Amino acid sequence: MQKHLVVFTPSGKRGYFPEGTPVLDAARRLGVDLDSVCGGRGICSRCQITPSFGEFPKHGISAFENALSRWNDVEARYNRIRGLKPGRRLGCQAKIVGNLVIDVPVESQVHKQVVRKSADERPVEINPAVKLHYVEVERPDMHEPSGDLERLCAALESQWNIAEVQFDLRLIGELQTILRKGDWTATVAVHGGSSHREVIAIWPGYFESDIFGLAVDLGSTTIAAHLCNLSDGSIAGSVGIMNPQIRFGEDLMSRVSYAMLNPGGCKEMKLSILEALDTLFEEVATNADVHCNQIMELTIVGNPVMHHILLGIDPTELGQAPFALAVADSLSIDAGNLGLKYLLPTARVYILPCIAGHVGADCAAVVLAEQPQRSREKLLVVDVGTNAEILFGDETRLLACSSPTGPAFEGAQISSGQRAAPGAIERVRIDPVSKEPKFKIIGCDRWSDEVGFDEVTASTGVTGICGSGIIEAIAEMRITGIVDKSGLIGSPDQTESQRIEPDGRTFSYLLYAPNKPSESKIRITQSDVRAVQLAKSALYAGARLLMDEYGADSVDRIILAGAFGSHISPLHAIVLGMIPDCKLENVRSAGNAAGTGARIALHSVSARRGIEQTVKSIHKVETAIASRFQEHFVNANALPHAKDAFPELNKTLQLNETLFGRQGSHMQSAQNVRRRRGRK
Ligand code: FES
Repeated sequence: MQKHLVVFTPSGKRGYFPEGTPVLDAARRLGVDLDSVCGGRGICSRCQITPSFGEFPKHGISAFENALSRWNDVEARYNRIRGLKPGRRLGCQAKIVGNLVIDVPVESQVHKQVVRKSADERPVEINPAVKLHYVEVERPDMHEPSGDLERLCAALESQWNIAEVQFDLRLIGELQTILRKGDWTATVAVHGGSSHREVIAIWPGYFESDIFGLAVDLGSTTIAAHLCNLSDGSIAGSVGIMNPQIRFGEDLMSRVSYAMLNPGGCKEMKLSILEALDTLFEEVATNADVHCNQIMELTIVGNPVMHHILLGIDPTELGQAPFALAVADSLSIDAGNLGLKYLLPTARVYILPCIAGHVGADCAAVVLAEQPQRSREKLLVVDVGTNAEILFGDETRLLACSSPTGPAFEGAQISSGQRAAPGAIERVRIDPVSKEPKFKIIGCDRWSDEVGFDEVTASTGVTGICGSGIIEAIAEMRITGIVDKSGLIGSPDQTESQRIEPDGRTFSYLLYAPNKPSESKIRITQSDVRAVQLAKSALYAGARLLMDEYGADSVDRIILAGAFGSHISPLHAIVLGMIPDCKLENVRSAGNAAGTGARIALHSVSARRGIEQTVKSIHKVETAIASRFQEHFVNANALPHAKDAFPELNKTLQLNETLFGRQGSHMQSAQNVRRRRGRK
């Protein structure tokens, strides 16, 4: 029989096939990634291909228009009812009758790389754990009695080569109705993301709809969920809410205490989180017009305390040395067992592995998103929150720790502090000569000294200062000589500023004096500066500890992760000494890297296996017992630092070294940090 040369692009795979071979069969024989849910029955349209005709010297082919069979009835009917894009054919129907170059479009590839739209986002590999398979099941026969389940399994094996698949009892209960409703055809969702393959959903006949997954970032303050299309990686919707556990305590340590002190407290907190997740899932699915039975899987990332509470594990051990996790490895469980109610009970939940007792699955997700273990340069990744999670290293070695920064970076413990919300000051600049400030608030693009600021902000007002605002304010005060290296706010004479006001035995800087009776003055007080010094010292000391362990005294690149990290100005962070000295252009924000990691894991089984391996190789450093942490903390109290040089910063600006007065700040801070070592 005559054979024809077929080249598939973009893979470049090629082979000779007998005349009349369906393109889908040729693709399978060559291992070309061409999707199919219906197994070549002309129902699913996942196998679409684009033949190319003409001269292809690169491939050594001349392909003529008649190198593919004419449209058959199945293709014609499909085109009539659903419409095929111009130039497209169904790979399972079109047969090879000449030499061909065949392009497999991205949407027809099972394992694809989807490049997300914004410039700083990396491609997501699509290699999902859940795949749909259409099957035709033998009808029951009185003369050869067998169960519907056994005949369905036989169909999966003979039609899809899927053997020894497991079934949940809840699905077996529905099986007979489904098979009869589908006239002995069904679409089966098979989950292959763990050690075994498992059927997690069945629909009668061919299931027309797309299937979805949820990537969940379970933070101690907020919970965010992205609803993602599992076949193309697109985001169908995103929602976020405040974590309802805040009522049990603002920071993680108070939630651990709640579990310790209240019988049933852990269960109570678990139920509150499950309720919130159900509400969140329903909202995002309803908004995107997705039915709950289309959601097959979710991935969850969170810090160790949130991780344990979600699983119903008492977090008490995480609040005391040696900070032992009940379980560190990744987990794959079903939604019903976890206690979720909105999703199908058989939907799978994949929880990323934790790195250590204070470095959780959220940090593993950051590693997955940022891949520091592949960096050629020494990379510092900081996920800033009430508890900073810090990674340092490169392709040779990666280290991780967490450091108790406390809530100051989120606007708590600050006299006019507030969470990031409309009305909060988020940017600050102070004129170096007049010492007059200007600022921006969330919800308004104009600076406070620009025309129209009052009108645009009339509805929100200026309500307080959030984390990024307090960092910029204090850094600007340091740059303009209002605050000295020790963190002391100078007097009006020392600072030559009319905005300095006496505040007990110290001074404060008046950032905003409202002319509306409904608003309050916003000042940066000495206590505010001290609170930020404590937080930033903890962050810097954690980073420095990792650098010691690695044997490095400099950093090539810094990534600021987390929602807050994405709003921090690198210059101001370095002026304060939150992070070590680094070329400014080498400091970047990674946005919500933990959420990105959850999305990557949702779409890719190989990414899950990769992070499970990587986490095992990360060296964990425990700040609570590291002898040098205290020393680093004390030295880091100065702005930017008592001992470490900041040559890159000095290229941009020179900070005044004059001290306003003798301070007990280092002593005071050292005592404070000892009190704070019981974690946040
Ligand atoms: Fe389903 Fe071709 S494989 S339509």
